[in-house]
Amino acid sequence: MVFGVILAGGIGSRMGNVEKPKQYLKVGDKPIIIHTIEKFFVHDEFVKLIVLCPKQWVETTKNLVQKYLGEGAERVVVLEGGSTRNETIMNSINYIETEYGLDEETLIVTHDSVRPFLTYRIIEENIKYGKMYGAVDTVIPATDTIVESQTGDVITSVPDRKNMYQGQTPQTFNAKKLKELYLSLSEEEKDILTDASKIFVIKGEKVHLVQGEVFNIKITYPYDLRVAESLIKDEKNMK
Ligand code: CTP
Repeated sequence: MVFGVILAGGIGSRMGNVEKPKQYLKVGDKPIIIHTIEKFFVHDEFVKLIVLCPKQWVETTKNLVQKYLGEGAERVVVLEGGSTRNETIMNSINYIETEYGLDEETLIVTHDSVRPFLTYRIIEENIKYGKMYGAVDTVIPATDTIVESQTGDVITSVPDRKNMYQGQTPQTFNAKKLKELYLSLSEEEKDILTDASKIFVIKGEKVHLVQGEVFNIKITYPYDLRVAESLIKDEKNMK
């Protein structure tokens, strides 16, 4: 079984002083989170789309899903997220385990709610390679040279750019395996995690790469909202 897991448990602190978490801000004529859910919605393979958001936003999110998806809202379940992004993912796995059980075929396609520009192809390849490899990350080749500094004031190393990629989402995992690996981590290991793929990497497991898109941006700063507005206009013009 394949599940879409839309991560909306954050508060968007880097967006600055806005009245609501960034995933609820409107871009074009809809909240960002709705654009993202709609991208998942057109895939038949998802048994359920699991949306996880801050506790106080659960009701609002349910209402938005109802308003914009109508009858289709039945395929969407809204749950409370966790205190970290990975805890939010774990909440989705616990839900699946309770409602459906976990087996070797349970796949979760996890995606940032604030990346509304992902494509059908990206989701399709995540599912395809997720089934084949059990762990998939969506990336694009790094455009800028990546400079490492351990101290923050001088360069420690300059890795060869051709081996560098920028991580995006979706990230797709065998849910059972992800849960097992996560539970085996020490607190120190959990502290250094920035994303779920790293759980596989630090445990020596292979993560397969899927090619993302430059426009599959994560809306993080106010500037990104302006970019998102013009990308939405482009999408509309292409329809
Ligand atoms: N996220 C989540 N649960 C958390 C924290 C983050 O589901 N406990 C989600 C966010 O809602 C977002 C995605 O993970 O869709 C990517 O995270 P990021 O852009 O860092 O979002 P925020 O944590 O909301 O932003 P900031 O770091 O600026 O506070």
